[in-house]
Amino acid sequence: MSLKIILGDITEQKTDAIVNAANTSLLGGGGVDGAIHRVAGPGLLEECRGLRGCETGQAKITKGYRLPAAYVIHTPGPIWQGGGQGEAELLASCYKSCLDLAAAHQCKTIAFPSISTGVYRFPLEQGAAIAVKTILQWLAQNGDRQQVQQVTMVCFDEKTKQAYDQALTEANSFAGNKPKAEA
Ligand code: APR
Repeated sequence: MSLKIILGDITEQKTDAIVNAANTSLLGGGGVDGAIHRVAGPGLLEECRGLRGCETGQAKITKGYRLPAAYVIHTPGPIWQGGGQGEAELLASCYKSCLDLAAAHQCKTIAFPSISTGVYRFPLEQGAAIAVKTILQWLAQNGDRQQVQQVTMVCFDEKTKQAYDQALTEANSFAGNKPKAEA
C-alpha cells in the first residue's frame, strides 16, 4: 500500500492500469493523451468513441490494447482558470475517481501522470500537493480492502519529479507531526 514517484514514460509502465490525462471528448489530443493513443493504437480510440465523453473530475476505463498496461483509465482534469472555479476539488476528484475505478476492476497497481499540470496549466506545486494528499488519503481509507497495492506517479521531467518528491516529503512529515492516538 504505497505511493512511489519515478521519472519516466507512462506508456512503458507495466502496471495493471495507467491513467490518461484526457479531455472531456475522450477523442485524444497532445501531451500524455497523444502518447497513450499513439502506443495503444487505433483500437483505443475506437473504444473511446463509444464512451461518449467524460466530465471533468470523473473517470472512464478502457482496455490497454498495445500498451503493456491492461487498462487505461481516462480522466479529464480541470483547466486552470486562476483557482476560483473549484479547480482544486476537481483535480482531487480525478485522482479519487481513478483509484475507485481501478479498485472496482481489481487492479493492484496503477500509474498516474501529473494531471492538468501541462497544457491545462494547473500550477505544478499545488497540483502535486493535491495529487499526493488525495492518493495517500485514499490508500489509508482503502488499505484493509486489499485493493490497490501500489500507486506510481510517473513524472516526465525532472522539474515535475522534484515537485512530487517535495509534496511527498511534506505529506510524510505532516503525518509524522500528527499527535499520536491516545493509548
Ligand atoms: N508519460 C508521462 N507523463 C507525460 C507523458 C508521458 N509519455 N507525456 C507528457 N507527460 C506529462 C506532461 O509533461 C505533464 O507533466 O503529463 C503531464 C500532463 O500534461 P498534459 O499531457 O499536457 O495534460 P494536461 O495538462 O492534463 O492537459 C490535458 O492536453 O493532451 C491534451 O487531450 C489532452 O486536452 C487534454 C489536455
